[in-house]
Amino acid sequence: MRVWSPIASTASLAVTAATVSASSTPLASASPAPKWNTLSGKMTRLVGHRGEKAFMPEHSLGSYWQAALEGADYIEPDLGLTKDGHLIVNHNEYLGGTTNIARIPELAHLKSNKTWVYDVDGREKTVYNEWFVADLTLEQIRMLRINQASEYTWRPQHFNGYFGILTFEEYLQVVRNVTIELGRPFGVIPELKSPTLYNRGRSYDRYFEDRAILTLEHYGWANITRWINRDQHIDLRLSVKLRPLGTAVLGPSAWQSFDMDSARYLAQHTDVPVVALVEQLPWAFTPAGLDRLAGFAKILSTWKDIFVAGPEAYLRHYNITWDEQDIEQMGGFIAPKDLVREAHSRGIELSPYTFYDSRQDMAYMCQDDNVESKSKFCPKSKAEELFYFFDMGVDYMFVENIVEASTLRLQYDNQLAQAA
Ligand SMILES: *[C@@H]1O[C@H](CO)[C@@H](O)[C@H](O)[C@H]1NC(C)=O
Ligand SMILES: *[C@@H]1O[C@H](CO)[C@@H](O)[C@H](O)[C@H]1NC(C)=O
Ligand SMILES: *[C@@H]1O[C@H](CO)[C@@H](O)[C@H](O)[C@H]1NC(C)=O
Ligand SMILES: *[C@@H]1O[C@H](CO)[C@@H](O)[C@H](O)[C@H]1NC(C)=O
Repeated sequence: MRVWSPIASTASLAVTAATVSASSTPLASASPAPKWNTLSGKMTRLVGHRGEKAFMPEHSLGSYWQAALEGADYIEPDLGLTKDGHLIVNHNEYLGGTTNIARIPELAHLKSNKTWVYDVDGREKTVYNEWFVADLTLEQIRMLRINQASEYTWRPQHFNGYFGILTFEEYLQVVRNVTIELGRPFGVIPELKSPTLYNRGRSYDRYFEDRAILTLEHYGWANITRWINRDQHIDLRLSVKLRPLGTAVLGPSAWQSFDMDSARYLAQHTDVPVVALVEQLPWAFTPAGLDRLAGFAKILSTWKDIFVAGPEAYLRHYNITWDEQDIEQMGGFIAPKDLVREAHSRGIELSPYTFYDSRQDMAYMCQDDNVESKSKFCPKSKAEELFYFFDMGVDYMFVENIVEASTLRLQYDNQLAQAA
């Protein structure tokens, strides 16, 4: 597999991508599309991780356009909430690594430490000496410029400083725009980051979720199915100038959350499918755990190693503990080879993350000295890696370098067609 040169080829990427994405049925012949092992039987859908993070500063206008041009099926935003109640897109709850905030003297005094509960089992996370989205107003956020994290030396750094942080509304407008401009639908898949942190000090408990729901509804990607306290959001002045879609059709939508209470709330209040992001919850990887998740989640998304080394080895590697008896009672840990079948049999689709661009270490537990947690699968190439997951029948994948992933997806589809 050829390695894409991010520096030389923004334009040529776009051309290649147009070729790849122009036809969602790549073999434009009379033969029926080959059947994949996914729940729908269709090809695995590619989610552009934070847009197209491999080439552009993440979550920027450039990153989202790049993801669209490369033919992503979904374009991912992560949501945070400013002090004055604006939803913005940013991965972390804080702004240090990916913006120029450390170089803005007027904002220096806003640096702090914070602790919050980040999962339903009550685990806490503390972050030191950072600038938190929740402490800044939108006006202050507007002073910032997004940078490619500097440790990723192989990614282009020369777009640093071009883009500002977008609001959730602006993200939705961008996706609307690319849908119209490129004449094909794109899915929106917002992740609500750390609801316990963003709901802290607000007028009521699900303030963050309700604001996200009202915004997504406004743009046509959600219907509200249960009462929401709109009176608490009269200050949410959503843009009235929606660009007309014309003949364009909006793509699908899905929520994501690591917080299972929040995920359940989103499922109960909208008709939008929910992605349960599950990594360090041992119970979730048992048959009874999947039954519980199936009560509200349509998609289970987890770290890709869990499909390879299995939940137990993965959890041990991260020093997560559990009660053996509880896990036994829930049916025991599901073996990695059975994970997709067990999920699909409950109507749950699977979405592993994150598949990096081929310049980055694939980061399986292969090199780990700890034999117990050693992965059975150490791919030598991007093709070997992706084909393993395509064979398994995962329904979605969070990817970086979307062109590379979609080119390999096309090759896999051709192989299936030839084998049929
Ligand atoms: C954050 O915590 C560290 C370590 O306890 C401490 O040295 C520092 O002063 C704290 N920073 C702020 C802004 O409170
Ligand atoms: C969407 O497209 C319109 C028309 O080209 C443009 O004016 C607007 O700025 C775009 N919105 C975003 C958020 O990029
Ligand atoms: C909202 O409901 C309408 C009418 O049932 C339906 O056509 C539309 O697809 C729904 N939209 C979303 C985003 O679920
Ligand atoms: C797990 O615990 C061991 C022993 O305390 C430690 O050496 C290791 O770094 C921990 N692993 C992780 C991923 O935190």
